[in-house]
Amino acid sequence: MRKPIIAGNWKLNKLTAEAKSLVNELMVGLKDIDKAVLPEVVVAPVFTSLQTVSDALSECGCGKVKLSAQNCYWESTGAFTGEVSVEMIKDLKAEYIIIGHSERRQYFSETDEMINKKAKAILAGGLIPIICCGETLEQREEGVTDSHIASQIKAALEGLSSEDVAKSAIAYEPIWAIGTGKTCDSVEANRVIAMIRSVVAEVSGKEAADAIRILYGGSVKPSTIEEQMSQSDIDGALVGGASLKAEDFIGIVTGAIKARV
Ligand code: 13P
Repeated sequence: MRKPIIAGNWKLNKLTAEAKSLVNELMVGLKDIDKAVLPEVVVAPVFTSLQTVSDALSECGCGKVKLSAQNCYWESTGAFTGEVSVEMIKDLKAEYIIIGHSERRQYFSETDEMINKKAKAILAGGLIPIICCGETLEQREEGVTDSHIASQIKAALEGLSSEDVAKSAIAYEPIWAIGTGKTCDSVEANRVIAMIRSVVAEVSGKEAADAIRILYGGSVKPSTIEEQMSQSDIDGALVGGASLKAEDFIGIVTGAIKARV
């Protein structure tokens, strides 16, 4: 059984003090939930708040919320002004790193090749990459959704061992559903995610495909999560806007639990 992941991508939001209160509120909200039924709950603040959020999580000691970065660089040290390495992120006790988000691909010209280098560095450092993929509205209308996503996934996984792929996570985030309030129909999201799983099976073998967690992202809300999590291949959610309010994010976590009981 794949353990679901509910991850909050805070994007470019929250000053340090705000990040601290959000994570503390979150931990209070999760206090009475038995750890055995809890999905892997992950938060991804901006780099400047990682230390603070990490400290808050250690202080709580409940182990119910894990830390992620939103990006990284693949070299560990050197003359790369403005970059942050996997080792540095690991040093702050983060366990996940989101890579290849469509906003990074679109606004910061990240290529499949760069995302593959990041995935390799993250896995070599013992962390878990959450590899994002997804199509634009134009690509969906042209009928190239599956081929586009298959090529993003093949490029991201190039040269990774099956064991490393098994440990990784993928987030399918249709770009037209991000921040628009328009979620992808659950049955369609499940179809695309099953297609991604078959691509993983083709490149990394069935065992890796059965183990890898594939999440859905794009306007996930407390009101949509139960139906999404009731699908056969959706292993969790990567949440943007609704992860910025503790109440909503907790609603998504509890909805995910309900769907799996
Ligand atoms: P929204 O949940 O705000 O649509 O964002 C999704 C996303 O991009 C998460 O990475």
